[in-house]
Amino acid sequence: MASSDALLPISAREEDPLLSDGSRSDPNLETHFRRRPVKGLLAVSFGLLFIAFYVALIATHDGSRSKDAIIDETATSTSRARLAGVSEKSNDQLWKLSGDRNTAAFAWNNSMLSWQRTAFHFQPEQNWMNDPNGPLFYKGYYHFFYQYNPNAAVWGDIVWGHAVSKDLIHWVHLPLAMVADQWYDSNGVWTGSATILPDGSIVMLYTGSTDKSVQVQNLAYPEDPNDPLLLKWVKFSGNPVLVPPPGILPKDFRDPTTAWKTSEGKWRITIGSKINRTGISLVYDTTDFKTYERLDTLLHAVPNTGMWECVDFYPVSKTDVNGLETSVNGPDVKHIVKASMDDTRIDHYAVGTYFDSNGTWIPDDPTIDVGISTSLRYDYGKFYASKTFYDQNKSRRILWGWISESDSEAADVQKGWSSLQGIPRTVVLDTKTGKNLVQWPVEEIKSLRLSSKKFDMEVSPGSMIPIDVGSAAQLDIEAEFEIKKESIDKILGNASVVAEAEEFSCQNSGGSTVRGALGPFGFSVLADEKLSEQTPIYFYVAKGKDSKLKTFFCTDTSRSSFANDVIKPIYGSVVPVLKGEKLTMRILVDHSIVEGFGQGGRTCITSRVYPTKAIYGAAKLFLFNNAIDATVTASFTVWQMNSAFIHPYSEDVVRALSRN
Ligand SMILES: *[C@@H]1O[C@H](CO)[C@@H](O)[C@H](O)[C@H]1NC(C)=O
Ligand SMILES: *[C@@H]1O[C@H](CO)[C@@H](O)[C@H](O)[C@H]1NC(C)=O
Ligand SMILES: *[C@@H]1O[C@H](CO)[C@@H](O)[C@H](O)[C@H]1NC(C)=O
Ligand SMILES: *[C@@H]1O[C@H](CO)[C@@H](O)[C@H](O)[C@H]1NC(C)=O
Ligand SMILES: *[C@@H]1O[C@H](CO)[C@@H](O)[C@H](O)[C@H]1NC(C)=O
Repeated sequence: MASSDALLPISAREEDPLLSDGSRSDPNLETHFRRRPVKGLLAVSFGLLFIAFYVALIATHDGSRSKDAIIDETATSTSRARLAGVSEKSNDQLWKLSGDRNTAAFAWNNSMLSWQRTAFHFQPEQNWMNDPNGPLFYKGYYHFFYQYNPNAAVWGDIVWGHAVSKDLIHWVHLPLAMVADQWYDSNGVWTGSATILPDGSIVMLYTGSTDKSVQVQNLAYPEDPNDPLLLKWVKFSGNPVLVPPPGILPKDFRDPTTAWKTSEGKWRITIGSKINRTGISLVYDTTDFKTYERLDTLLHAVPNTGMWECVDFYPVSKTDVNGLETSVNGPDVKHIVKASMDDTRIDHYAVGTYFDSNGTWIPDDPTIDVGISTSLRYDYGKFYASKTFYDQNKSRRILWGWISESDSEAADVQKGWSSLQGIPRTVVLDTKTGKNLVQWPVEEIKSLRLSSKKFDMEVSPGSMIPIDVGSAAQLDIEAEFEIKKESIDKILGNASVVAEAEEFSCQNSGGSTVRGALGPFGFSVLADEKLSEQTPIYFYVAKGKDSKLKTFFCTDTSRSSFANDVIKPIYGSVVPVLKGEKLTMRILVDHSIVEGFGQGGRTCITSRVYPTKAIYGAAKLFLFNNAIDATVTASFTVWQMNSAFIHPYSEDVVRALSRN
């Protein structure tokens, strides 16, 4: 049962890890704003301002549309992002879900909305963010760039935001890295990637949307390589360096990857596109990043998958636990192709073999090829436009993913911000299965753990147990479950228990309230005392026709909020469980985001939830077992999580960092 350690209340940190360098920080620099108070103020003061701004924005866009146009999204209207030539950015299904566009949207108030802002996830101070761009480690700092609208909490006017960190957790916001100031990017400084050359210098390739909305690739580099903060960026005078080749439409050519070395010593990149309904990845070789030679082969192509955005391509080791630098190749290496599906907004990947000689790649298993419905996903919840980078400082590959909102644009405008980045994840090949990746929150996140409570309990069928950890809005949970052998034997040995594993899916089998023989069981997070709102994250174990067990990892957001203007899906997928393994899950809860990692990160689910009652001190944690027959033992630790320091931009802070 529970240990007697009391959980500490979340308290202000003594020392700012970004500014202190271990020693006492300069008292003049103690301008680090605590996350909580600031956001309340921000939401309140900017909320009204941005409603006004957004109405103005709609009005200037199309004078005939009234304010109601924000809500009156119909299937026939084409969104700003679609028109501009990128994937859908708003939750256009929202108003179709409610079925009745005359139903009033939920009456959000400022205390609810300000609670939604996260405490240890990366977000800009305000406004809209989307894709991660050009992540890298340079002279002691992790750099993070991102697609950013400096003017509103909705997509548009995209430039590159920029922040630095020593540990991927605590951040300092820096001035915009690149703005839309050239004909070749005047409609948007879109997504790109960094390559670190052998001499340590950095090249950045990014997509610009030109004054005529043609997608072109541009080259940029740091103005001062001695500046560890990389504050100023220079765009190459010969831009654009690549324009859409013959046969490729002007809005189907975007998001260059990090370059890797060929065996001939050239650099190679790939860029997503499509031909009719076939998603493709074009390949180019270069020696100077200014002129390119297109290969007549494609890295890969998959029919009926539509436009590929944000393609990522990287090696993983078959034997090693380390990540691999992007150019590494050899017999112990597999290669991952990831593409973000413009049509479905899902990041799909596959494990396969790369041929250096002709720049092509083939999947190990064509039945789970990139982008087809059976293929693997980084995440079965909300997770898109992701990008990895090789962290040469810790020999690991790190994955960033954009986590958008599941609420309405109107609510985003009211709260003054939209979107998060997921906690960066280390990503490696699952050497046990050889068939999938495993993703895990970077180890640095543990620095936010405050005191913990450990629990060991037996959970009988049909139980719901409150777990006393105090407020449960910022948690890290690591848990191990085991179904009692008697329960399993009873089910497997009973011919009248119907096999259901073949039919079961998290999405379509009714969620966490539907009871099966051996599941569901897991945690309900962000639940109020009466369980009127709750978000269950759980395993469902089902018997198959072969009398073997199949395990699913799911998150059910259908009861996560009373609000009618949020999307509340049931997410999840099968998770591989090998012989002798216990069932394990890790959950990070941070206000409106919940990240679940099943079986060490074989299956991951990120969800956005917007409770109206289970907030602040009323947010609780429960353990449940809704199986009919299974008695489960649960062994788990719950940590309260501190808030990260995410400094607003200020010249003083930047001066202090430059001195380091
Ligand atoms: C917001 O609404 C909730 C529920 O109705 C209420 O308890 C809370 O006091 C309200 N907060 C503000 C700032 O109005
Ligand atoms: C990693 O970065 C830190 C901080 O700049 C530095 O002290 C250390 O030497 C680096 N380690 C490696 C292996 O590059
Ligand atoms: C694309 O579709 C058009 C119309 O069906 C067809 O004429 C054309 O050959 C297709 N292009 C390719 C490359 O398949
Ligand atoms: C690329 O090279 C590999 C290895 O030589 C070969 O098996 C494959 O067929 C080639 N692919 C294409 C499209 O030429
Ligand atoms: C076998 O399963 C059926 C259907 O679930 C149930 O009615 C029956 O009691 C079970 N038999 C035993 C021996 O557990």
